[in-house]
Amino acid sequence: MHRTHTCGELRAANIGQTVTLAGWVQRTRKMGGMSFIDLRDRYGITQIVTDEASSKELNDQVAKLGREYVIKVTGEVCERQSKNPKIPTGDIEIKMTGITILNEAQTPPFTIEDESDGGEELRSKYRYLDLRRAPLKRALELRHRMAHEVRNYLDEQGFLEIETPYLIKSTPEGARDFVVPSRMNPGQFYALPQSPQTFKQLLMVAGYDRYFQIVRCFRDEDLRADRQPEFTQIDCEMSFVEQEDVLNVFEGMMRTLFKKVLNVDIPNPMPRMSWYDAMDFYGSDKPDIRFGMKINDLTSDLKGHGFSVFDSVEYVGGIVVEGASEYTRKQLDELTEWVKRPQVGAKGLVYVKVNTDGTIKSSIDKFYSPEELKAVADKCGAKVGDLMLILCGAKRKAQTMLGVLRVEMGNRLGLRDPHTFAPLWVVDFPLLEWDDETNRFYAMHHPFTAPKPEHMDLFYSNKKEDLERVCANAYDFVLNGTELGGGSIRIHNADVQERMFEVLGISKEDADYKFGFIINAFKFGAPPHGGLAFGFDRVCALFGGQETIRDYIAFPKNNQGRDVMLDSPSKIDDVQMDELFLKSTYVEK
Ligand code: AMO
Repeated sequence: MHRTHTCGELRAANIGQTVTLAGWVQRTRKMGGMSFIDLRDRYGITQIVTDEASSKELNDQVAKLGREYVIKVTGEVCERQSKNPKIPTGDIEIKMTGITILNEAQTPPFTIEDESDGGEELRSKYRYLDLRRAPLKRALELRHRMAHEVRNYLDEQGFLEIETPYLIKSTPEGARDFVVPSRMNPGQFYALPQSPQTFKQLLMVAGYDRYFQIVRCFRDEDLRADRQPEFTQIDCEMSFVEQEDVLNVFEGMMRTLFKKVLNVDIPNPMPRMSWYDAMDFYGSDKPDIRFGMKINDLTSDLKGHGFSVFDSVEYVGGIVVEGASEYTRKQLDELTEWVKRPQVGAKGLVYVKVNTDGTIKSSIDKFYSPEELKAVADKCGAKVGDLMLILCGAKRKAQTMLGVLRVEMGNRLGLRDPHTFAPLWVVDFPLLEWDDETNRFYAMHHPFTAPKPEHMDLFYSNKKEDLERVCANAYDFVLNGTELGGGSIRIHNADVQERMFEVLGISKEDADYKFGFIINAFKFGAPPHGGLAFGFDRVCALFGGQETIRDYIAFPKNNQGRDVMLDSPSKIDDVQMDELFLKSTYVEK
């Protein structure tokens, strides 16, 4: 045994015991004739002390230690003279009687402290050193705890955890597939699953009526703070259920997680909002409802007054920013530039201030009388001291821009505290989404999502307007403006599934080639079923009060999809290429 205790374990009650600890040298310091070591392991930090008077040899040993040396120390637990209330072991220290250097260490390229001096790239390259830092350790501990609670809850609810394969055929989740060439089947490729969607449905056909899996998924898409090319889902499916049953089970799961992990009570029942309301009032299908600032439709109020900008568009909408009428010209100009950035995409920004003296000041004074602007302010509930921000354009596009502006103003006003939790179900999604560029419908969720039974007539119509109105029993779990999970009631009938592929413009041959296995399975007694999947990394990050998921994944990729530590992806040698019948056409610039 290299140790009797961990570095986070000893307390005043252990005083007088002889112990052995092992760990990494966080730092050493000398004060007078005394030498100190802060010894760190996964569990904490313990102070080790020795004084020159009792052992010069030990003191000399300490002088040799560098940061991150791995050592083993034996000594007596003593009460500390100057206690450190910041750490759990702060009441004691170990009076060293022996020390062994188990391994030396090169000086690490950055400081291994809560706040490191190393940049993101450098820390990624030495991820194993970064992982020694307490914030990352806490993140991984939280992740472990969450997975444990998820398994407990779902097990209690009768779910079976069943693994599904990684080398599969393409699944249509909307991103590009990562593909793997098959040596034994030359010229053919597996796809890595974007999710186990088709497998979990096949498990329902097989009769495993409550399935779950904490499972890795792979998507080749543009990366962001909350997106990794490989990420983890809590993936679930249930048979003989309706939307309400699924929502109840998973609302229960999230409630349990909030209570057990954070001791937070979330509203019971959780609020629900239709997709249409989410878009109309929040300009987003994942509204952050920690704060109000809802979008007001001002089209009928502001169109038709001779202001050509508004007269020429489909929609005009605005938000009220409370207490912001003091915004200066300069601040408004800066905000106008902000909304014009490509990420927002507005052409300009109109403001209406309700000044503290009750007068109205606006950038469109020329076109509207003070009474007209006052009426608009009143309609939106703008009070003295408030600022209205107005954007216009095609309806959904303008609403989306207002949604982005709303979140930005929420940030600027400090309304988005990461430790306040506002969960929400968004329900009643449209089944289909029209794309002007490719001139076809896409599945808003995925092609296995069922139309609402009451919309079946519309679903079989050949008119675009009818198909646009078809809704699905599809739902998203949204927390603080992030989509944490989503799912739907599925199609379980081969004819309806074939119709869905037809609506999506997928030919019968193509559908058979890609999804014949599932259409076939539906012919052998498929039960009604539905489910959902949570993005586990996202759930962990938000529980930890962070928006970026990277720290909650032990070995994540950077925004270019690279593992900086492994320097991957990388070339493979010619023999491997030949074996796989591959030839690269890529020309290095
Ligand atoms: P969906 O595509 O909505 O649904 O994914 C479910 C959840 O997975 C998370 N997620 C991601 N997290 C990190 N990085 C990514 N690149 C990434 N992509 C998605 C999100 C999202 O809500 N098969 C369906 C589920 C179902 O219908 O049952 C599916 O995968 O939090």
